[in-house]
Formats: sequence, structure tokens, C-alpha cells
Amino acid sequence: MSPVAPATAPDMPLDLVIFGGVGDLSVRKLLPALYMAHLHGNLPPATRILALGRQGWGRDEFAAFIESKVPGFIGAEALEANAWASFLGRLVYAQIDATEPQGYTALAQAMQAGSDRVYYLATAPNLFTGICAHLHGAGLIDPRARVVLEKPLGHDLASAKQINADVARYFAEHQVFRIDHYLGKETVQNLMVLRFGNSIFEPLWRAPHIKSVQITVAESVGVGSRAGFYDSTGALRDMVQNHLLQLLCIVAMEPPVSLDPDAVRDEKLKVLRSLRPMSVADIARDTVRGQYGVGAIGGEGVKGYLQEDNIPAGSATETFVALKAHINNWRWANVPIFLRTGKRMAERRSDIVIEFADTPFSIFPDSPRATVNRLLIRLQPEEHIELQMMAKEPGSGMRLKPATLKLDLGSAFAGRRAEAYERLLMDVIKGRLTHFMRSDELEAAWAWAEPILNGWQALGEKPRPYTAGTWGPAASSALMARDGLSWVEET
Ligand code: BG6
Repeated sequence: MSPVAPATAPDMPLDLVIFGGVGDLSVRKLLPALYMAHLHGNLPPATRILALGRQGWGRDEFAAFIESKVPGFIGAEALEANAWASFLGRLVYAQIDATEPQGYTALAQAMQAGSDRVYYLATAPNLFTGICAHLHGAGLIDPRARVVLEKPLGHDLASAKQINADVARYFAEHQVFRIDHYLGKETVQNLMVLRFGNSIFEPLWRAPHIKSVQITVAESVGVGSRAGFYDSTGALRDMVQNHLLQLLCIVAMEPPVSLDPDAVRDEKLKVLRSLRPMSVADIARDTVRGQYGVGAIGGEGVKGYLQEDNIPAGSATETFVALKAHINNWRWANVPIFLRTGKRMAERRSDIVIEFADTPFSIFPDSPRATVNRLLIRLQPEEHIELQMMAKEPGSGMRLKPATLKLDLGSAFAGRRAEAYERLLMDVIKGRLTHFMRSDELEAAWAWAEPILNGWQALGEKPRPYTAGTWGPAASSALMARDGLSWVEET
């Protein structure tokens, strides 16, 4: 058993302290998620939310700010006047310069006596160490305290290790919740159930029964107002190193012995450590970097990346990555795994596609050989699972045609779906670490991803342009075509 994370029982007072409490993430995701948990009676009654910021606001200014910003990120049907008013009653604003020790004494005074403490660090990662040290200095870290670390968790392996080491000086590993919000998505959690709650897939879930795997996380949005962050980050760091690799881990891991956090995380770690390191030659051949240019999405013209506000002229940051990876173990030997993500693509869509092997021999001379069985798991925007089978086309001959069995999870399970952040925040409160990354997982993901960044630099690889509203550069299709495969929308 892993050391158990502290859990807050419903009758315990809880202070949830958000550093960066009036920042973008807090306004768009954290406060709306906490409101929903509050609305549904899931927060312990004596929970207070301390939003920390640098502004010298009084209660009225803070309340006006929250009123003007947060409701826009909550569905209109969920905004209930009484619940909203009581939620506001839980919110406390405190001004702090997180880099200065003085503010932490005031923070200590603002907290409830004997409360459980959860510190959510929704700040730039270069503040993490100082915040932990100052919390410690003010006596605010006890064995029940938890810290939540928001991405980006480093920009390379060395910086990720440094964050881990610094945080570990003040918090034990079972007090640290490293968020990857993809692990909080209902459909991503459902992947575990699909694989390990059913018996029919597992015997086939391996080479040579699986021919290839593709994972796509396509976004239709552009860089938006995050130019400063994004331009120094790029798609590989922003999406592949974390979200896509986490999805890959769930697709590829061995069955864990239980849902105990370390049982799951040990298996994910093995996948990350089995990823075949890419040489510079592999990187040149098996990766595609792209950057969106002017185009149209949903009939509306959109700017190219270089025309977006605050993007430096001539920026070579990638907004698209496609690559072919391999996992060096018995289960996945010689199964190509394609990962793809990009901004300003044709639509917002995340899919995992498992292509099963061709039939060994065809007795149907009228039908060309094609992919026969394919499992498509759509993570967003809809939630469904499709199993492509071959069926006989009605008529006199014996012609085969693909047909699909479709499980629409949205209609199979009516009712409310909590957003990823709500589910993960509830996990933090309840001390459930299974859907959070452990320090060694984070480092293993960087150890595989960083050489790709270095390889691009060594190769002087410039991003290939692609038109906004498409599926990325043509080289991405060519990457698949070399193996006789294609992305799912091209079949
Ligand atoms: C974030 C990235 O982690 O995930 C963003 O920083 C990206 O660039 C977002 O847009 C995508 O999340 P979702 O839940 O909208 O798929």
C-alpha cells in the first residue's frame, strides 16, 4: 500500500488556499469547479476558499471582481441565486506577495483554527519553491496539509527535477497532487474501465493483434491571450509531454493490481520508461512540427499564429506536433504509436484509435483488404466508443463493408458530468492520489520528451506551415502513409 494521502472528512474545517486565486485558471476553471461542488453539496460544510492575489482589494472590490468574471464560466442552468450567494460566503480574498515571507503571517491569521489545509499553486512554477518555503517558515505545513501543483511542471527534465526536489523538502510525496487535468476527464477515467472492467479486449490488447495506435488531441482554438506563455512553450511541452503521454500510459499500461495510487502509477511509470528514446535520425523522420497560418474555422476567417497578438515576428514555436513512438516491451513490440495534437485544427476532437490486425487471409475476393476492426474512443467533445466490424453488404455478391457498433456514453448515462477540475479537486479533498502524477512519472515523461526538443534544435527544424482549420501539415499524413496507415479522418 502507498502511504495514504490526508483526507478531509465532511465534519472537518478546510481552508483551500489558491495562490494565483484571481488569475486566469482560478477564474475560468477552479472557482467554477468549486462552485459546482458547493452547489451539489460536495464541499465539507466548513470549507473556506482563500483566493490570494497581489491587488490591494477590500471585500467589495474582490466580490465585484468575482461577480463580473466567474459566472460566465458556469453554465446558466447551474447558476442559482441562493447557492451563488452562499458560495460567495465561502470566499475570502487575501493580498499577498508570494515571494515575501511577511504576507504568510497574515495568511496564517486568515485561516480557521485547526483546519485542514490545501494549497493550490496556480502560479508560474518559478514561485513554487518560495511559496513552499514561506508556508513552512510560517508553520503552515503540517502532516495533513496537501499541495496541488499546476502545470507547466518544468520546461525540461532538469527544471522538473528541481521542482520535485524543492517541493519534497516541505511535503511528503503523498501530500503532493500534480495535476494533469486530462486525468480528471470522465472519459479518460472510463478508459481504465473499458480496459480493465471488461474481459473481451484484454486478450487482444497487444502485439500482434493490434496493428497501430493513434491518439489525437485536436483543438480548434488558437493561442488566444496566452502568447507570452505559449510562445516559449510550444505544443510538445504544452500537450505532448503531459496530456498525450498520460493518455498513452492508460492505453498501454499493464493491468494494475488495484486502484491504489501507487499500483496505478507504477504501471504508468513502466510505460514511460519503456518508450523508445528517439535519436536525431528518428526525430528527423518520425516527428512533424507545424505552425498554423491564416485560415478559417467554422466558416470564420482566423489569424495565423504569427499575426496573433504579442507573438514575436518570425517565431518558430510549434502549434502542432505529430510523431511516431514505440514502446519497447513485449506487449507493444513493433506496434507504431502515433501521437498528434495541434491548435487551430479543423475541429475540437480527442480520439484514441486502436487498429486491430488484418485478417490473416481473405476469402472474399470481391473486397479489397482494408482495416477490418478498429476501436475508436472519442474523449471529447462527445463521449462515445465505436467498434468497427466488417459486415456483408446486402446484395447478391459477398462484398464486405465496415459497420459500427456504437456506445454513446452521453445517452447511456444521463445526468450531470462533473468537469475535470471539479473531480480532481474533490479527489484532493478526499485524499485520492490515483489520478495525479507522481514525481518519477513526471521525470520519466520529460526524460523521453526533452531529447525531441533538443533534436529539433540540432536539426534546425522549422515548423511546417499549415492552414488554420485543417488537420495540420501534409507531412503528418505522410508520416502515417509510410506505414501504410492513415489518420482516422482520412479513412
Ligand atoms: C492545457 C493547455 O493544459 O490544455 C492548453 O495548456 C490547452 O493549451 C488545454 O488548450 C486543452 O484542454 P481541454 O480540456 O480543453 O482539452
